[in-house]
Amino acid sequence: MQTILITGATSGIGLECAIQLAPGTHLVLVGRDEARLQAASTRARAAGAARTDVLQADFASLASVRSLATTVRNRYDAIDILINNAGAVFASHTTTGDGYEATFAVNHLAPYLLTESVKPLLVSPESARIVITASTAHYRGNIDFDDLHYLRGYSTMKAYARSKLANVLYARSLAAELEQSRVTVNAVHPGMVATGIWNNAPWFAKPIVAAVKRVRMIPAADGAHRLTALATDPALKETTGGYFEDGELRLPSMEAQDPILGQRLREASDQLVGLHS
Ligand SMILES: NC(=O)c1ccc[n+]([C@@H]2O[C@H](COP(=O)([O-])OP(=O)(O)OC[C@H]3O[C@@H](n4cnc5c(N)ncnc54)[C@H](OP(=O)(O)O)[C@@H]3O)[C@@H](O)[C@H]2O)c1
Repeated sequence: MQTILITGATSGIGLECAIQLAPGTHLVLVGRDEARLQAASTRARAAGAARTDVLQADFASLASVRSLATTVRNRYDAIDILINNAGAVFASHTTTGDGYEATFAVNHLAPYLLTESVKPLLVSPESARIVITASTAHYRGNIDFDDLHYLRGYSTMKAYARSKLANVLYARSLAAELEQSRVTVNAVHPGMVATGIWNNAPWFAKPIVAAVKRVRMIPAADGAHRLTALATDPALKETTGGYFEDGELRLPSMEAQDPILGQRLREASDQLVGLHS
């Protein structure tokens, strides 16, 4: 039986991923709210999951992610599929308890720490897959190592774009590191998906979001399908280091293709999350 860990499994794309991947699998659902986790677990069981476990963690806290990683390492021998999907936007500059800009912390540093910590469990004799939910927003992102936490010139979308560029850079760097293993790593834009993530957009952007939601956004199940295809399609068994949009491989931004930037981001991330120090 495959063990599949999904973060952000309590709503939107992550919840639909759980439902699509449920039949006959062991799902480990990660979220920050116990009641929403229990509801997601019930939906996944109704969709045919053979076993569901729920693990609570707040991605705005590195201590919470560290404790999640310890639980995962203690409880499971192997993970076949890891879907790093949890993500958020913040209307105004927000600093986590660790002192980091919240979008970068939740969307990049938390999945980075989790993935680096549970990497040794991705040992499936067939092939293990890591899927990272990035975004087309990464094309507008940049990484300023002198101001990683956007103390200057913050906007919701600039911070979001930076965090999604970090997702693609990490996916490519990790894929290169694991090239000789049976683990694949791919990043994916799920499409413009009608979920609650934009509820946190600044007030002036809300009418635009509502209009786009009505005319252009796809249902969460369709967005999730782009992730679950990457996680399960036998044709993609050996595809790694890719960035996918609309079910197709696309070239990510120039910055995302820069291996030196990817390496620098990993070194900075290691330091920020307290790995290899
Ligand atoms: N929707 C789009 O158009 C779109 C486009 C491109 C990329 N994406 C990406 O898709 C992913 C999923 O987003 P979505 O659209 O499905 O939004 P969503 O419905 O708001 O789901 C986000 C998930 O992340 C979880 N999460 C948020 N902050 C967290 C925290 N501090 N700790 C732990 N979990 C946290 C949420 O938990 P709660 O249920 O507790 O809130 C939820 O399960 C994100 O990475 C997002 O950047 C979305």
